[in-house]
Amino acid sequence: MPELASRAHQKNLIPVVDAAMKRAGVTLDDLAGIAFTRGPGLMGSLVVGTSFAKAVSLARNIPMLDVNHMHGHVLAHFIDDENKPKPSFPFLCLTVSGGHTQIVLVKDYLEMEVIGQTIDDAAGEAFDKSAKLLGFAYPGGPLIDKHAKEGNPAAFSFAEPRIEGLDFSFSGLKTSILYFLQKQTKLNPNFVQENLKDLCASIQRTIVDILLRKLEIAAKEQNISEIAIAGGVSANSGLRTGIQALGEMKNWNVYIPKFEYCTDNAAMIAITGKFMLEKGLFASQEISAQARWKM
Ligand code: KG4
Ligand code: ZN
Repeated sequence: MPELASRAHQKNLIPVVDAAMKRAGVTLDDLAGIAFTRGPGLMGSLVVGTSFAKAVSLARNIPMLDVNHMHGHVLAHFIDDENKPKPSFPFLCLTVSGGHTQIVLVKDYLEMEVIGQTIDDAAGEAFDKSAKLLGFAYPGGPLIDKHAKEGNPAAFSFAEPRIEGLDFSFSGLKTSILYFLQKQTKLNPNFVQENLKDLCASIQRTIVDILLRKLEIAAKEQNISEIAIAGGVSANSGLRTGIQALGEMKNWNVYIPKFEYCTDNAAMIAITGKFMLEKGLFASQEISAQARWKM
């Protein structure tokens, strides 16, 4: 609901920034820069953040860093945590969120190339749309994950896409699940309730298989064994254990963000801003929010 998201940003932005600065023990005078998400995303929300950054920047003469949201997801791996090993360049990052599914070749902090992406739905959408068919509220991805833990991932199988190269497609999966459920509920109206855990586990397994199969091809083609995941769907326990297992088989070094840095968070935008600040990549007051913005 873009309109509601925009209003919520308007209402919460100043109190949230205020609380964050108090907790960090800093004031505006301590800031070297203001990092904000310029895009991609919902225009109404992006405009609120961009305008806020511009206003504070102008009023206090603090430089601005216009961060790409998808860039932020990848660089979540570099959020300070001494005990966590960080990927070394070049690495591959499977970035899977509610709006994007990409295999990114990361050559440096600010040098990235998308080498594969979805041609229709994102992986997060595949989770959320499947969840809706099972009767879950939005976003249903985390609920599929929860129920899948007690289900049998081999109970049901669904049509998997045949897409050339490193691109993904998830729209066919949704249709395949829809037809399957329609057929089964005609025979047994309680089919979904009686098989909920197995359905969740099977859907999750199918989505994870699709993702990992392409990642495996990308790693082979690029001859890279530094492999990372990022974005909201990287919080999925099936994907997290699946990539660990594949990594052990393939001798990869696998990097999985801390749970709280998988789904959208401000720290990933701040760390990206830090790298941009170090290179002097400042934004001018003339820039505007971009709903669609390539990395
Ligand atoms: O990165 P994110 O927080 O926001 C976007 O940039 O889109 O990703 C949100 C997506 C939603 O589709 C949500 O259902 C999915 O991530 N997600 C999950 C899990 N946690 C979040 N999907 C499957 N299993 C999870 N545990
Ligand atoms: Zn995101």
